[in-house]
Amino acid sequence: MKKVKWGVLSTANIGMKKVLPAINKSENGEVFAIASRNLESAEQAAAELNIPRAYGSYEELLADPDVEAIYNPLPNHMHIEWTVKAMEAGKHVLCEKPISLDSREIEDLIKLRDKTGLTVSEAFMVRYHPQWLKAREMAQGGELGELRNVQGFFSYYNVDKNNIRNRKDIGGGAILDIGCYPVTTSRFIFGEEPVKVASLLEYDPETGIDRLCSVMMQFPSGQASFSVSTQLIPYQRMQIFGTKGRLEVEIPFNAPPDKSCRLFLSRGEFYREEHKLMDFPVCDQYTLQAESFVRTLKGEQENHVPLEDALQNMKVLEAIFRSGESGRWEDV
Ligand SMILES: NC(=O)c1ccc[n+]([C@@H]2O[C@H](COP(=O)([O-])OP(=O)(O)OC[C@H]3O[C@@H](n4cnc5c(N)ncnc54)[C@H](OP(=O)(O)O)[C@@H]3O)[C@@H](O)[C@H]2O)c1
Repeated sequence: MKKVKWGVLSTANIGMKKVLPAINKSENGEVFAIASRNLESAEQAAAELNIPRAYGSYEELLADPDVEAIYNPLPNHMHIEWTVKAMEAGKHVLCEKPISLDSREIEDLIKLRDKTGLTVSEAFMVRYHPQWLKAREMAQGGELGELRNVQGFFSYYNVDKNNIRNRKDIGGGAILDIGCYPVTTSRFIFGEEPVKVASLLEYDPETGIDRLCSVMMQFPSGQASFSVSTQLIPYQRMQIFGTKGRLEVEIPFNAPPDKSCRLFLSRGEFYREEHKLMDFPVCDQYTLQAESFVRTLKGEQENHVPLEDALQNMKVLEAIFRSGESGRWEDV
């Protein structure tokens, strides 16, 4: 089978460390070209990962007629601009989260997608991991009884002022960087959209980014809540509560590519020893994401994370910021 040729905008850490090796493991794609603002960096990255072509500007990569799909891991404030440029050059785009800082831009992107017929997705890799597919099947299939509550936590410690996450002017902060994950997974598990949210946001006095955030979301059939922080001990966990069962996703977001992941099902016992454990075979969620994206652009399947989903997620994030400002519940 001929593999789809991917081009990559920048030598971003997430690309070099996780996504590009994962694309190269995929059955239907290969990393064919990489661009950087600096040709030397692009050449170095290409040598490191055996990428055939290297470019000293993003424009040159988009002009390469052999590149079919773009992976866009630029800083958040550049996502929309370069996704649009890539689409104008006739390329399909897998763009990192959050795909935009403004939901109205996603509405415009949907129009452009419909006009061009190109495949565009926000790179929520968690949505392809079998542990989340299983969790959703159990939650929606009644195995937990009536689904009523989802709870989450996601934190790390990073005070490096040069890191994109600590720069307010380019889309930094906890909600955009990691709050988007409990939002997307809660929406995925409920299979519904939250109607209103309330949030408590603490801003770093030096950098201005939101660094400690707690959020409640009212869904039509239940509630979800989560806390995220960029200045706490690293931790991540999601729990799903029904009237007859509780499911715990042990490594909900950074599922490792070389270790199996676990779900714990509790029927009300207080001690973990009695919990039923589900072990998932080792898999790379970034490879699953890349393969699914290529099958979609080839017309072999529906898009698992279409732009309509990105739009809904962004509307929730916007309501979270509004609530942080107003101190009140805000409609989504
Ligand atoms: N899905 C996931 O698991 C996951 C994980 C981490 C991050 N992400 C997302 O991926 C994106 C990149 O994150 P990262 O941590 O990999 O970032 P990063 O290492 O800082 O990379 C960003 C790259 O963008 C390019 N760039 C262009 N203009 C820039 C500017 N004004 N300031 C800084 N960099 C600029 C640089 O590449 P060149 O110098 O080569 O042009 C830089 O290496 C973000 O949107 C983030 O939310 C996703």
